[in-house]
Amino acid sequence: MKLYTNPASPFCRKVEVVLHEAGLTDQITMESVGGHPTNPGTIPVDSNPIGKIPVFEAEGRALFDSRVITRYLDDAHGLGLYPAASLYDVLTLEALADGIGDAAVLMVYESRARAEDKYDPAYVEGQWAKITRALDQLETGWMESLTGALTMGQIATACALNYLDFRHGDRDWRATRPALAAWYESFSTRPAMQATAPKG
Ligand code: BEZ
Repeated sequence: MKLYTNPASPFCRKVEVVLHEAGLTDQITMESVGGHPTNPGTIPVDSNPIGKIPVFEAEGRALFDSRVITRYLDDAHGLGLYPAASLYDVLTLEALADGIGDAAVLMVYESRARAEDKYDPAYVEGQWAKITRALDQLETGWMESLTGALTMGQIATACALNYLDFRHGDRDWRATRPALAAWYESFSTRPAMQATAPKG
């Protein structure tokens, strides 16, 4: 089994955290690749024509995106990260967290992949507004789902919050969200989180 990954991507990190939590890292070959929307670089576009990572090769086929890969790992190894009793809460929380990651990555690409004279501050602030709304909903509506037995919604949320620190540390997401901040501080002590800290 092979994972095409990148040490800075919050989506690749979701998969890597699951592999660590499940004790599967020694069964997987990991290849670090990189690219962006206007240049797929070393991302395996033959496997994922959309040019995004993570891509996971298993059982003779390529799986993507991160949500498909984590569902596959959960099914294949009985991890219980998507409990039937709260499945749609967990999936919605994961989608909310991934939406934060998406918007945060698009903010980075706007300065990294866009010509300097085309940089659009309104677009960047529009992405940040999405993140702000999502963080507020996490603080007011999701704290119960974030506590208790480990789920994929929790892992995705922690990866998204850490990416905000990693790439947007100048924007203080904790200031008005004390419950979320406290939850994150505790969750990020998990060995799987410590082992997958972003780089780059
Ligand atoms: C980043 O450098 O922030 C990044 C790299 C790969 C995917 C997403 C984000």
